[in-house]
Amino acid sequence: MPSKILFKIDGKEKGKEKEKEYILKEIYISDEEISAKESLLTLAAKNDITISNFCNGMGKCGRCKVIVDLKEQEKLDLNKEVLSKVLKQEQILKGYLLACLAFPKNNSNIEVIVPSESIESKYEVLSGKAVEIKRYKEISGDAGVVIDIGTTTVASYLVDLASKDVVDSEGSYNGQVRFGADVMTRMNYIFENNNGAQALQDAIVSTINTHLRKFSERKKFQKISKIVASGNTVMTYLFLKKNPLEIRDSACDNPNFKKPYIVKGRDVNLKYGAEDADIYCVAGLGSYVGGDITSDIIISKIFNEDKICLVIDVGTNGEIALGNKEWLAVCATSAGPAFEGGEVRCGMRAMNGAIDRIKINNNGGEVIYRVIGNDLPKGICGSGLIILIAELMRNKLIDTTGKFNRKLNSERIRKSKFYEEQGQEVYEYVVVSHLETESKEDITLNEKDLENLKYTKAAIFSGANTLLRNTGVKSDEISQIFIAGGFGNFLDLESAILVGLFPDVEREKYKFIGNGSLDGAYKQLIDDNAKKTAEGLALNVTYVDLSKDGNFVDEYSNALYFPHSRLDLFPTWKNFELGIEKTETEVKKEDKKEEKGLVKAEKKEEKAIAKAEEKPKQEELEKTETDIVVGDKRQVEILKKSKMYRIDGFKIEADKLEVEM
Ligand code: FES
Repeated sequence: MPSKILFKIDGKEKGKEKEKEYILKEIYISDEEISAKESLLTLAAKNDITISNFCNGMGKCGRCKVIVDLKEQEKLDLNKEVLSKVLKQEQILKGYLLACLAFPKNNSNIEVIVPSESIESKYEVLSGKAVEIKRYKEISGDAGVVIDIGTTTVASYLVDLASKDVVDSEGSYNGQVRFGADVMTRMNYIFENNNGAQALQDAIVSTINTHLRKFSERKKFQKISKIVASGNTVMTYLFLKKNPLEIRDSACDNPNFKKPYIVKGRDVNLKYGAEDADIYCVAGLGSYVGGDITSDIIISKIFNEDKICLVIDVGTNGEIALGNKEWLAVCATSAGPAFEGGEVRCGMRAMNGAIDRIKINNNGGEVIYRVIGNDLPKGICGSGLIILIAELMRNKLIDTTGKFNRKLNSERIRKSKFYEEQGQEVYEYVVVSHLETESKEDITLNEKDLENLKYTKAAIFSGANTLLRNTGVKSDEISQIFIAGGFGNFLDLESAILVGLFPDVEREKYKFIGNGSLDGAYKQLIDDNAKKTAEGLALNVTYVDLSKDGNFVDEYSNALYFPHSRLDLFPTWKNFELGIEKTETEVKKEDKKEEKGLVKAEKKEEKAIAKAEEKPKQEELEKTETDIVVGDKRQVEILKKSKMYRIDGFKIEADKLEVEM
């Protein structure tokens, strides 16, 4: 007998008695789903029941709470140890559990109540700026689909191939998040589990098929004949049923990473009219630098520029490109999902109920905030978190290490009860009182969250700085900085610079391109020149492997401060700080900095820069000089010193591309 789950989704109250009216949804679960240990959260998502999931199903945020009668709970495999760490004892006694850590057993019929605070608002597709979505239009013949396969989220467009118009869009979490938050943990899952690669492939295909099903329900088309997919190398390999351990085990410039893959929809189990589709996976640029940044580069067109440009794709897998029409250097850095709703207790995606703007007044006593969709607040999205940290810095509520100022007499700063119960002293700041939130619980930011956010911003900044060091380019030589990624459109630049995420250079150099991976894939769907350009780029960029860069660890450690241990790199914060008395903790920290040898690290870094600027050996110099026939003096100098590949013999078709931003 198949197993069955009845989801009772909290609806409106009705009648004088204010009885709850539930929306009922019954689903059947296959033996395969049970043996694959699919959680209530995943099973619900597959059936269009969207339960909140702010930590990507890692059992950390407590947002996926559902209620199952205590007697019925024996029909589920539960992780009781984690439950008691995340939920309150009185909630557990009422039957609350975490949907992400509840796995139905064989032959079970279970009733699950989804309370209103656990119902997810619709996910917003974070599209790019180069494409207009014309939802009112119909499709006249065959459809095309473009997909950005992100580590945390997946976004797609439906395209009318006749008119080339984008007529619909979809977005959701990547079904793989239950196997790990980032590419490294997912690779480990494959390494440790025999069927790991298959499980991850099934998860991403299931996510994409859900998008295709929704498109087929909303729009009529004959079939989907073309698909372009753009994602980091690990995501692309998993989508194609290729074992990603090759990425870990082979040289970073293995040609397999740099070619576009072409397969049929049925080869990867796509459905809903896409079985015969030609799928084109955008060429990557090196082992961990995938087709997503290739697509960002197509949109930014930095390969047409005389001056040096920087592209930063802020995602769970942060990817960075630096260069111009003469040369391009790229690197990847594992940033983690903190800006995408993961690993931060109050974090969530930018969707209805997310706080995206914050202002702190009265020395921390008053918080003014804005909520997407004007709903009651549920959490804080990535752009909101960055503004919040900047506000905490401006108001001297945290020091440069991300610790709260214990001496301030503010009711909003207190010890976290949650961590206190676990024997840890962690302070938190109350952003919104429980009286104003949907869950009736305070929305807070604690020191552990700040630590995770610091790791993420440090990974991105130090990745960019390492590219600068490797090429000998000074930050004031960069003419434009393109920011891509999920929150690219909504980011407050001033705050992002203040916290140390992006370089402190002239603001007018920054340009936000939103989801460049998705828009770049669209360009490659409708324009063969864009494909040729992407393939040419893949063969001509220089990959900088951060794991082999002797100074990256120092670079990263120096960035583990708000904004950075080297204040000369962040004049805006330095100037702000000069006007305000330093907190005691900060003074102490600065004293400790000497002791810890951070000053030494700075000197070491200066030496490394000086070394990188030393003249190359004579024979290398001669070789490079004869090779270089174009480019201004400075580009020739960079090419000589950094040993970048020159974009040579590669006729860029980009001037023919119609990229509007
Ligand atoms: S605890 Fe289940 S999704 Fe976060």
